[in-house]
Amino acid sequence: MNEYLIYPFGKTRSAIKLVNLFLKRIYQSMDTKTQSLESSLTVPSVQELALQNPQKVPPRYIRDDDGDDDFCTFPSSDPSLTIPLIDMAKLVNADTQQDELHKLHLACKNWGVFQIVNHGVSSLKNMGNQVKRFFELPLQEKKRWAQKPGSLEGYGQAFVTSEVQKLDWNDMIFLKSLPIQNRKLDLWPQNPPQFRETLEKYSEEMRQEATSIVSFITLALGLEDTKISESFHEGLYDIRMNCYPPCPEPERVLGIIPHADNSGITLLADFGDFPGLQFLKDGKWVGVEPIEGAIVANIGHIIEVMTNGIYKAPEHRAVVNKTKERLSIVTFCYPNPSIDIAPAEKLIGEGNKQVYKSMTHAEYFNRNFEVT
Ligand code: OGA
Ligand code: NI
Repeated sequence: MNEYLIYPFGKTRSAIKLVNLFLKRIYQSMDTKTQSLESSLTVPSVQELALQNPQKVPPRYIRDDDGDDDFCTFPSSDPSLTIPLIDMAKLVNADTQQDELHKLHLACKNWGVFQIVNHGVSSLKNMGNQVKRFFELPLQEKKRWAQKPGSLEGYGQAFVTSEVQKLDWNDMIFLKSLPIQNRKLDLWPQNPPQFRETLEKYSEEMRQEATSIVSFITLALGLEDTKISESFHEGLYDIRMNCYPPCPEPERVLGIIPHADNSGITLLADFGDFPGLQFLKDGKWVGVEPIEGAIVANIGHIIEVMTNGIYKAPEHRAVVNKTKERLSIVTFCYPNPSIDIAPAEKLIGEGNKQVYKSMTHAEYFNRNFEVT
């Protein structure tokens, strides 16, 4: 059983196991104590593999045996299965706020994910171009900012801890961006030349966006206190930029395996023209139709705990395409480490059972994900 729950998820055991194993892998890579044991292994660049125009995918990427194809019904035949859309302009306008807050509440409660339009993040397109230009550089140049042994940060592949582990069809660069003292600038690309300054601006805008979404979430739940949204304003922001190259056998691989995010919320910018990102809804994978300039926001485990499970962190994955590349920029937003990760007081008591334990930041990040 997952340690931070007083009561179990309403999910199947195997789903809990999958999420937990994934998270365990992340933290084995990040936790300094386990780094020497679990150093992340160097594997080939997927972009380089794809450039060789192979007819077949190497066996390490093949996921035929994962057994989840039976509930993969993408593209969905049910038109009601559409990721909800939230209009930020309506949320900030007093005349339309109540209706939009209600939509936000339903989106968070029923889906745990929504697309945001009219958000005012001005550096989105520019950041997308910088990331595109970075991944277009020759391999040797990109490797100037390669991950160091035992660390997830930098250019490379995520969470490779064993020689036999199946691999995701993706290359990435992972950078901690806020607070500023968390930056490892030696891993921040200087090519393309504007990459660093664009990422600085982008992170700042993501922080504003996350803070305002969290404050609307607390409003939607009738929580008056601003402690939670303030903790996101002073929060931690990690950015993962993904490149999903075209794949000769797309239905046999995954861009990213199914998981739920460990963040407070996650803000994703999609630079593809096909639905590569999918969320699990009532046992079906539903693709996110890319909307140019929109941001995909999903609930992470921290907000799940803080809302006492009213909003849940959805499972999601990325699939790839036979001919098209897809890029995404994913911002993981965490509250300030000084705040406890606990259900909001107003949401427990008076007949509302407390579902999750209260944890310090350190307890949350050091917890043992093992399923017993
Ligand atoms: C992630 C993630 C999906 C995507 O990085 O946690 O879910 O489409 N990415 O890149
Ligand atoms: Ni994710």
